Amino acid sequence: MCHFAVQATVLVIRLDNRLFRRHPLCKMTGEIQREIEGLRERIWDHNYLYHVLDRPEISDAEYDSLFRQLQKLESLHPQFVTTDSPTQRVGASPAEGFRTIVHAIPMLSLENAFTLDEIKAFDRRICKLLHVDRVVYIAEPKLDGLSVELVYENGSFVRGSTRGDGTNGEDVTANLRTIRSIPLRLRRTQLAIPSVLEVRGEVYVETDDLHQLNEKREAAGLPVFSNTRNLAAGSLRQLDPQVTTTRPLKMFCYDIGRVEGIRIGCQEQLLRTLSLLGFRVNPLHRLCGGIEEGISFYNDFQVRRKTLLYEADGVVIKVDEFALRKVLGRVSHSPRWAIAGKFQAEQAITKVREIIVQVGRTGILTPVAILEPVRLYGVEISRATLHNEDEVKRKDVRAGDTVIVQRAGDVIPEVVKSLTKYRKGDEFPFKMPSVCPSCGSRIIRRQSMVAHRCVNISCPARIKQSIVHFAGKAGFDIAGLGIKVVNQLVEKEIIKRPSQLFRLDRETLISLERMGPRSADNLLAAIRNSRSMTLERLLFAIGIPEIGQQTARILAKRFGTLSRLGSASKEELLGIPEIGPSTTTAITEYFANQENRAVIEELLTCRVQIKGEGTRLGPLAEKRFVFTGALSRMTRDEATERVRHLGARVSTSVSSQTDYVVIGVNPGSKGAKARNLGVKILSEEEFSSLTEQ
Ligand code: IVH
Repeated sequence: MCHFAVQATVLVIRLDNRLFRRHPLCKMTGEIQREIEGLRERIWDHNYLYHVLDRPEISDAEYDSLFRQLQKLESLHPQFVTTDSPTQRVGASPAEGFRTIVHAIPMLSLENAFTLDEIKAFDRRICKLLHVDRVVYIAEPKLDGLSVELVYENGSFVRGSTRGDGTNGEDVTANLRTIRSIPLRLRRTQLAIPSVLEVRGEVYVETDDLHQLNEKREAAGLPVFSNTRNLAAGSLRQLDPQVTTTRPLKMFCYDIGRVEGIRIGCQEQLLRTLSLLGFRVNPLHRLCGGIEEGISFYNDFQVRRKTLLYEADGVVIKVDEFALRKVLGRVSHSPRWAIAGKFQAEQAITKVREIIVQVGRTGILTPVAILEPVRLYGVEISRATLHNEDEVKRKDVRAGDTVIVQRAGDVIPEVVKSLTKYRKGDEFPFKMPSVCPSCGSRIIRRQSMVAHRCVNISCPARIKQSIVHFAGKAGFDIAGLGIKVVNQLVEKEIIKRPSQLFRLDRETLISLERMGPRSADNLLAAIRNSRSMTLERLLFAIGIPEIGQQTARILAKRFGTLSRLGSASKEELLGIPEIGPSTTTAITEYFANQENRAVIEELLTCRVQIKGEGTRLGPLAEKRFVFTGALSRMTRDEATERVRHLGARVSTSVSSQTDYVVIGVNPGSKGAKARNLGVKILSEEEFSSLTEQ
């Protein structure tokens, strides 16, 4: 009996084994799993190229097609879905609150230095403690965002939290997963995958993205975010990850907590390793042979930061070598081996002369404080936005008040607060007018909306602002067409729509006040030269509601031509990850409107030319280029731009898919590879003549 039982068990096992090996379904399953893995690898690679290196190699459409293939396979075979799959960025449903996470190693803060003397004193302290004359430092930009920790176990992102009080943070894993520059799985390198890796860094928002989001929120009557830090913090602390996914969050990594399975000896190696593993690392860091170099980085960066896309409030200077950091240790909440060299706050005190109300191109009324001029970082400020009526009330800003104003980066100056102790009693509170200050029309404020709006679409203030927007730097960029000229053109009823700018003549311009023949000629030349436009600029300039620069860029890339966008269906638009339902409605309504179509028609009859249209489908459309070696007539970026402009693509490696390899001076092995694969090789001259327009 017992014997039989044993036999029977063996038999079953054997049968199972046979079944397992021979059943055709099992073989298929293995193949499908491999296919899924293969697709994931490719998508991860392209994610990394796009979001981390900012160097995409495939078009959005190709990326979407890969993504959809993976989605389809995963929905047919849900047993293979893993939490680190690219399809699983926004999976979680809204949470009730955030769990507390205890950081395995506390997240310290930094001591601040506000002067060069304080930075020098920091160095002297360190040299003394280490008994040396000089120390190697690494200097990095200090971004103003929210610091977070990401935990990876065996290569997969498992948990993420805010810094909190340094010991206890909040579990914001679901929200962090939606940030495209955070890898859900570490990239494979020659290094072993660490069994545990805690990566730390700053989640932040770029200044332009703040403006664009605020523009949309104002248009929708929602409260605006007062700075990029608040936007980053508010977005990460959202209970619904669906909301976070629509926010333009990015992350730079600069530190680690616990790490097991790899050895890292200094900050430079740490940054290199993080970058190899797939994290975004700020490329502006500098290794400094002593504190003098650290100080020169601080000075250079103070100027350079004004040209950056993000706000930085200082630089962090850190001892590079980890062994030395250990010797130095910490004092209460900050390490002795690092210091934050902060830049002077861009704040100043001045007086509010009056509070006026401005009407924007969408009809929204914005209270603006007219100030006694004051210098903020070299720029004279004479007005500051107060955003909306609620904001004026909350800050209780009155005409005649003494106030603190600030300007962060490129942000429009704003009133931080009123210094009420200076009041004399003759200040008067602000009241929103009941009719439009420009045209006298009715003002509406829809329930639960923050913004007041003028109902008249022909309101001269709205027309003026839409022309200023059209001619602005991010639009047609017409130099010499400032608000003073636009005011006259609209008030004298010379033009009513931006497209009529192209019909202006010399005589009319000279008839304007303070417009001599030379200025008129310059303005006419600027208008003429602005006629050649990229689609993305045109989409921004014509002022489709909700379309900021970023959305315009996405739409231009996606549709390529104005007519394709104009005839896009709602479904097509909703299929674009960055485009939500309200933007979709804004676009379709815009193109459905006869008047808007007439404006576009008028632009085209005035010979406004959209660059790339028509040539997109030319002989180079969709062709793939690879460059190797240095070009003598142009930079690699210029060559890339030229190729992209013609609808072709640029890759970094040669494959059988490559159409042309352009060989410059000192080419690498790519030339030989191209020859082996029979890919067409071009000299720089041949490339130039092929791409000349
Ligand atoms: S290092 C112990 N590096 O500044 C050192 N911090 O005031 C840990 N920050 O909480 C921080 N950029 O949020 C470091 N390149 C950078 C930084 C940086 C921004 C923030 C971080 C930290 C705060 C300290």
